Amino acid sequence: MTTLEPPADIIAITGFMGTGKTTVGQLLADRLGLSFVDTDALIEDASGRSIASIFAADGEERFRDLESRALHDALCPPRAVVSTGGGMLLREANVFALRSAGPIVCLTAAPETVLKRVATDTSRPLLQVEDPLARVQGLLSARESCYAQADIHISTDDRSPEEIVDAIIQALKADARGRWLAGGQAVIPLELPDHRYEITVGRNLLGRLGMLVPPREPGARAALISSEPIAALFADTVRSALAAAGWDVTVLAVPDGEHSKRLEVAGTLLGSLAHAGLDRASTVFAMGGGVVGDLAGFVAAVYMRGINLVHLPTSLLAQVDSSIGGKTAVDLDAGKNLVGAFHQPVAVVTDVATLETLPISELRSGLGEIIKHACCFDADMFELLEARRDEVIRRDPAVIEYLVARNCQIKAGIVEQDPHEKRLRAVLNYGHTVGHALERAAPEWALRHGQVVGTGIVAEARIAKWLGLADHATAVRQEALVEAYGLPNSVRNVDESLALQALERDKKIEGGRLRMPLVPAIGSFEIVEDVELELVRRALRSVIGEQATM
Ligand SMILES: NC(=O)c1ccc[n+]([C@@H]2O[C@H](COP(=O)([O-])OP(=O)(O)OC[C@H]3O[C@@H](n4cnc5c(N)ncnc54)[C@H](O)[C@@H]3O)[C@@H](O)[C@H]2O)c1
Ligand SMILES: [Zn+2]
Repeated sequence: MTTLEPPADIIAITGFMGTGKTTVGQLLADRLGLSFVDTDALIEDASGRSIASIFAADGEERFRDLESRALHDALCPPRAVVSTGGGMLLREANVFALRSAGPIVCLTAAPETVLKRVATDTSRPLLQVEDPLARVQGLLSARESCYAQADIHISTDDRSPEEIVDAIIQALKADARGRWLAGGQAVIPLELPDHRYEITVGRNLLGRLGMLVPPREPGARAALISSEPIAALFADTVRSALAAAGWDVTVLAVPDGEHSKRLEVAGTLLGSLAHAGLDRASTVFAMGGGVVGDLAGFVAAVYMRGINLVHLPTSLLAQVDSSIGGKTAVDLDAGKNLVGAFHQPVAVVTDVATLETLPISELRSGLGEIIKHACCFDADMFELLEARRDEVIRRDPAVIEYLVARNCQIKAGIVEQDPHEKRLRAVLNYGHTVGHALERAAPEWALRHGQVVGTGIVAEARIAKWLGLADHATAVRQEALVEAYGLPNSVRNVDESLALQALERDKKIEGGRLRMPLVPAIGSFEIVEDVELELVRRALRSVIGEQATM
């Protein structure tokens, strides 16, 4: 399984003297858009003395104390490249502090290189001896085990600072925590009994799309189905990226909004595919939010009994939810998603840079599903959402990339175990029993889906508490997180009797009882078979109107 860890706060650059820690560290920080801290400079600033004079007057031990303190200060401002003195890793506590903040990069060099680089520098306290080469060799071998503790080792012999930085970024992209700061991408495989595909998550992927999808078969054509506003934003990028890989692309844009998820629109698109000459080997690229994904997915599922589909999700909800799992559908007047098919894509390419233009209300909607995943599957992600709200809301690239990739991984894992939504996938309905009832009773478009999922989570967390399944604190934390992200913890513009009626129509009710997923503790779920309808009614009422009651 792909290892995905939250983004690092600090990239530490260490290594022996003369390996270029300061120059390289500064350059790396500039390239990654991070701030830069040099612990030696911090010590000199704080003490008003040079490192050489501290060494000469107070000795190495005293310097190492100052160094540990400087490290403590250096780790405080978030998101930095921190260059450390060459002896920083000599103390275990320093190694521990650096490692908990992110990957440690050690720059290496041959003793001769070191000597050549520092030959003219008289401020090097440790080299003021008769045979400096022997001294360098001795120090290097004494420090070998301490440098071995670094996560990444980069040789600096015969390399320019720029080349060294390139090599570091390359290595960071392969590191579970470093990759997000280095602009790397995550590849999440989804394996089904008869089909395997990959979800690629990263920044600025649309411009490289040609390299991220299966190669074009001879004669195959591409249709890029999107909505008008999304096509205006990204169709040119996609068209030229695909053209570079030999694809001939027909762009088909439908009006924005759920209203396009209709059979008539699907029919028109199908006609356009035939007119553009798409054959069985051709591919539909679905670029947009969940509406486009469902509509274009449905079209790809039925055209010539099914042709290749690639999802290019651009809303947060589509990235973490609807583009994964192969469900496609259009709506009827009688209800949403009543006509559809399972049709798995051949690839999903999720470019998180597209989220920069997403309206905040849509970002929140996606966050509803993310909070749902955190509640049921991942206590660490729940904590990250609590601690880094501001970064999430401002779409900090590293944090957003991690969140999207992690949520894709969670959803992909469930789809793998239950491809046709027989049983386990029911857990994805956490927050949705109450959420759907609110959604159906609300005036059209008054509430975005993910937002009512947030309200649903608040209500269903209460059910778990009333049943004695979860404690009070577990319910309170979920409610606080929903609120922290600006999702409604109660709704006012919903008619209570309409919402109760909508609830009664829930397909999952049997003999006055419901089967629903509940959260006994953050990061875990239990599918409870016989929740009394009356309890769900009470939870629903508790989130309608002014009185939000625990
Ligand atoms: N297939 C599934 O498994 C599944 C799961 C959940 C939801 N859905 C479906 O998904 C749909 C909802 O998806 P949605 O919330 O993405 O709605 P949506 O597709 O209508 O997108 C929401 C809005 O965001 C805009 N938008 C999207 N990406 C943007 C970007 N990068 N920059 C600027 N604006 C952008 C869209 O133009 C639209 O106005 C519903 O139809 C629902 O039924 C399907
Ligand atoms: Zn949902």
